[in-house]
Amino acid sequence: MIALRKIDHVCLRVADVADAARRYCLQFGLTVREVSPDRALLACDYEPYSLELAPGDDPSLLGYDHCAWQLRRSCSLDAARAHLTAVRWAFEDRDDLIVVRDTEGFAHHLLPFCEDENRRPAIARQTASLPGLRPRKLGHINRLTADMPAATAFYTAVLGMEVADHLGDAGTWLHTGPEHHQMALVNVGRAHFHHLAFDYYDFGTLRSLFDNLAQHGRWLGWGPVRHGIGQNICGYARITEEPLFVECYVDMEILEPEHQPRNWPDDRFSSNTWGPLPPRSYFRFDAAAVESERESRETRGIPLPPLF
Ligand SMILES: [Fe+2]
Repeated sequence: MIALRKIDHVCLRVADVADAARRYCLQFGLTVREVSPDRALLACDYEPYSLELAPGDDPSLLGYDHCAWQLRRSCSLDAARAHLTAVRWAFEDRDDLIVVRDTEGFAHHLLPFCEDENRRPAIARQTASLPGLRPRKLGHINRLTADMPAATAFYTAVLGMEVADHLGDAGTWLHTGPEHHQMALVNVGRAHFHHLAFDYYDFGTLRSLFDNLAQHGRWLGWGPVRHGIGQNICGYARITEEPLFVECYVDMEILEPEHQPRNWPDDRFSSNTWGPLPPRSYFRFDAAAVESERESRETRGIPLPPLF
């Protein structure tokens, strides 16, 4: 038996740790907890940290390094070890954490339960360091896959997540708690990390944030949208430096206890009740796709060049 409490942090490989730390703080409202040439730890709110930045020497390997998940109070690290052994999934034991790789090689760390230093909600706490515009938390990650059944089986049987919704064979959303998803998979015939997502409270905060991103030279690869699946209102900021998107969202659906997965039709309304599906560049991270998206070429009728 394994039970995840929550997503704890994401670690990204970056070309320059100090520069990336400055970017994520200025642009997304994160706060530096610790920074050195070897590592930066950035927080959304009062938590220890949600984003870890590590140096990446190989330019072709920048971006996702691992995602860390905290175990529930009732699930010890030893219980997690016993579970992985029982389901015969290989893991690396680092004493104070467990490392597993999913079916397409994406690393996940399992951390023991850690009591919050102060259990009051953020609005009832005091700070001398957090900025006015900031996310309240890291909410989920999403990756592209070439093998949806195998990936879904890993996240359910090995990590103990529950399926919130299916979009036929094209998408699976998984949850560890009441929010609609903490993990999502999209089948596009190849594996790539797609996005990490920060929760920004409400639509007004997103307006300030997207204006800020635009003034820092960012654009939204898709959005603002209202997802049918997940209910979140969001925009996806293209990060060219790390090859990924940062989703900035609000108003995620809260699932009832014992939620039963729904199967959604693969139509425009499931993806965006407000309007269009994403440009095809949204699923790609190569230079041609980024350039096309930057200049809005697909919307102007110029098709995306094929991906080789
Ligand atoms: Fe997302």
